[in-house]
Amino acid sequence: MDISSYKPKGRIEHKHLLNLLDYSTTDIYEILHLAESLKAAQHKGKKHKLLKDKTLAMIFAKSSTRTRVSFETGITQLGGKALFLSSSDIQLGRGETIHDTALVLSRYGIDGVMIRTFKQSDVEELAKYGSFSVINGLTDDFHPCQALADIMTVAETFGKLEGIKLSYFGDGNNMAHSLMLAGAKTGMKICICSPKGYEPNPEIVEAAKKFGDVTVTDSVEEAATDADVLYTDVFFSMGQDKDPKKEKALMPYQVNADVLAKAKKTAVFMHCLPAHRGEEVTEDVIDSPRSVIFEQAENRLHAQKAVMCLLMGKK
Ligand code: CP
Ligand code: NVA
Repeated sequence: MDISSYKPKGRIEHKHLLNLLDYSTTDIYEILHLAESLKAAQHKGKKHKLLKDKTLAMIFAKSSTRTRVSFETGITQLGGKALFLSSSDIQLGRGETIHDTALVLSRYGIDGVMIRTFKQSDVEELAKYGSFSVINGLTDDFHPCQALADIMTVAETFGKLEGIKLSYFGDGNNMAHSLMLAGAKTGMKICICSPKGYEPNPEIVEAAKKFGDVTVTDSVEEAATDADVLYTDVFFSMGQDKDPKKEKALMPYQVNADVLAKAKKTAVFMHCLPAHRGEEVTEDVIDSPRSVIFEQAENRLHAQKAVMCLLMGKK
């Protein structure tokens, strides 16, 4: 069943959003439907204080513009409060364990923790020991909130998800992983186009293939042909050092006018942002009318509000 014919029930059976591996197709549809109705309410100026007096702590061990602002604004619009905790300001940054941090935050009645960090295992440990809902705001392996906002944008653009070919060009990183999972579970055709040596994690590729249509190729021609969406991300993710060898390998995977010309006439360009114009994408493509990057950025707000309501609204 495609998202357009799904009738939402208003609930999912999850406490956390750690990655999308354990989320079903209908869990994802629930999030996207609620996100659309929260978006409509916000655009009409209708109050929607569904998380009145709930508290979301936001732990950041890496920089952020979109994630920080959209989570803080989102919980505020829902009637709750956000606590911004930079890991360099809290004791976690001086070696206090995730275990102890989880138990301490649990004593303060925190309802949810959004965490952006390096190791996926830290996010999982926080969920294991805390009493609150944990939301992954990006790790080295996954960026589920971005992928949810992205497929929401795809559904808005094309009126459906089923059969839409999304081709991702570049580093087989956290974005590639989360797009594979979100796309495969919702009937999209996901093609990851990476140079040799920079492919996505083969275990995650195998997992995603079990849920749907996922291919990995090093051929730009193959990926771009018949694509509905051309997606790319930075050459160097947060925490990675610049490396001329990697830059040289990724440059032929740049999304430019030639690549766009090979895709469908109706194809759109997507990027999670922040972008490096002239590296992974050319200025003419990212700033063209085919680019939906700011729709994606806006949908972070609505998708995450839906996630917070479905996870934190139960207690
Ligand atoms: N796309 C994204 O997560 O952006 P930030 O790093 O600015 O949060
Ligand atoms: N792959 C990028 C995504 C940023 C939103 C990074 O991890 O830095």
